Amino acid sequence: MSKLKDVYRSMRRWLIHATRRPRVGHVQLGDLNRLTPISRDWGFDRGQAIDRLYIERFVTAYADDIRGEVLEVSNNEYTIRYGGSKVARSDVLHPDDGNPRATIVADLAVPNPGLEGRFDCIICTQTLQLIYEVRSAVTQLHRWLKPGGVALVSVPGISQISREDMQQTGDYWRFTGAAVRRMFDEEFGEGAAEIEVLGNVLAATAFLHGMAAGEFDEGDLLEKDPQFQMLTTARAVKQKSL
Ligand SMILES: C[S@@+](CC[C@H](N)C(=O)[O-])C[C@H]1O[C@@H](n2cnc3c(N)ncnc32)[C@H](O)[C@@H]1O
Repeated sequence: MSKLKDVYRSMRRWLIHATRRPRVGHVQLGDLNRLTPISRDWGFDRGQAIDRLYIERFVTAYADDIRGEVLEVSNNEYTIRYGGSKVARSDVLHPDDGNPRATIVADLAVPNPGLEGRFDCIICTQTLQLIYEVRSAVTQLHRWLKPGGVALVSVPGISQISREDMQQTGDYWRFTGAAVRRMFDEEFGEGAAEIEVLGNVLAATAFLHGMAAGEFDEGDLLEKDPQFQMLTTARAVKQKSL
């Protein structure tokens, strides 16, 4: 039944795409015909940001991995929400002493022997783009996990700059799924990471304008078009034999 629904949905989309392409000079941009975004706050002021729809579905899908000793960046919101009583110890990582929630002050891009092999799970959402030495950060993710431990990672593709993070740490990178695949294959071993690329032209346009997920049909936002990569997720497992 749901397969039939999917086929119907794809056909409907294809029809819309094929028949509703306005001629040159007849595109009606309406409310989007503007030089400033509808919201500069990622859509949080209008509801759930579209990237958070993707990230929270990802973390929900792998909630079983959030257990034991868990490290999360900046706060422990997802650790608590999705790990619950499976979490024995929750740590929060921040690169300087300016975050009162931090229990570990360390730079993810810098080797830190005291943190090696410490965690069953590291939740590293929307952080790698802020780290210039991103390859080293992926190396430390691998090193800081226990054998069998899991890193749950998300990175932005098509996205506005984070003004706050740009001021604090710098905002350096946007990623394709291919880059994430290579970085994690090289560090965790080939095939040790499950990679998913999300987004399409509608979701990306809406996200750039700071429109919220609730303003759209969720099925439309979840439709994947690899030419318009808005966000990539990676679930990377540290192999037991390494
Ligand atoms: C946008 S938040 C992402 C984490 C948050 N849990 C989330 O899902 O939105 C970015 C955080 O990355 C962290 N960060 C930036 N550079 C870092 C670095 N070199 N090492 C460790 N953490 C870093 C800072 O704590 C910053 O607040």
